[in-house]
Amino acid sequence: MSSHNLPTQVKRHTLRTLQALKDRGEKLTMLTAYDVVTSHFLDRAGLDMILVGDSLGNVVLGFDTTIPVTLDDMIRHTAAVVRGSSRALVILDLPFGTTTDPETALRSAVRAFQETGCQAVKLEGGLHAVAVTQRLTEAGIPVMAHIGLTPQSVHQQGGFRTHGKVLSEADQLKAAARELEKAGAFAIVLECVTADLASDISKTLRIPTIGIGSGPGCDGQVLVINDLIGLSISPPPAFAKPVANVAVIIENAARQFIESVRKPSETKIRLTGEVHEKTDA
Ligand code: KIV
Repeated sequence: MSSHNLPTQVKRHTLRTLQALKDRGEKLTMLTAYDVVTSHFLDRAGLDMILVGDSLGNVVLGFDTTIPVTLDDMIRHTAAVVRGSSRALVILDLPFGTTTDPETALRSAVRAFQETGCQAVKLEGGLHAVAVTQRLTEAGIPVMAHIGLTPQSVHQQGGFRTHGKVLSEADQLKAAARELEKAGAFAIVLECVTADLASDISKTLRIPTIGIGSGPGCDGQVLVINDLIGLSISPPPAFAKPVANVAVIIENAARQFIESVRKPSETKIRLTGEVHEKTDA
């Protein structure tokens, strides 16, 4: 299935096909995934990109921040996501401490590429990430940049807040976006950037911007899958509007199982959630 009303897309997205979407004025879609099953169904739905985010630390591993996530964690999960997908471009999020300088970043990204089969990496940071971005792209490794709220620097940034409200900060973000594009980034995530600024950056750049909590003016949108499907222990951020409540489905299924084991003759199994159509895809 294609989400763009084009002839059925059978091959995996590339940087060129993603850029063509922006050039045609079509919106790009990206969700996170951390395992083979989720990846399989997101891919089948026609998603353009799957990000194996270091949000893995919060939503799967139970940490308060993304800081404890290691490159080994990311490699393990990304390899599973690659195995589950065939059409979406898969991006591995380089975790905290793996991109501190261009050579360290190159070693991390080479491992990511060789051990997972992913097609790109994402790295957080503004102007200070320009040299790293250039080093990786020169080595043939596509880089998705990420500015605004960058959770790996949450302590330095003074917590979770909207970025670009103050003129000097807005100017810095615009400059970072321009320089990251010049350094070779193929796309850029704008996280919790004011809607006006995000829209302005999106019009200025040639490469696609992918927004999260940054308003509708970006070239595409990304969400953490758990926030979209209602599968989190803590409430989702205000900008994420869940379209399902998978947490309730899991809890009800477990309750029914417990009941059916303890009192088999009294339990009538009720199916929660619709059964998806089986296809050969
Ligand atoms: O780690 C992540 O999931 C991310 C997205 C929120 C962009 O970086």
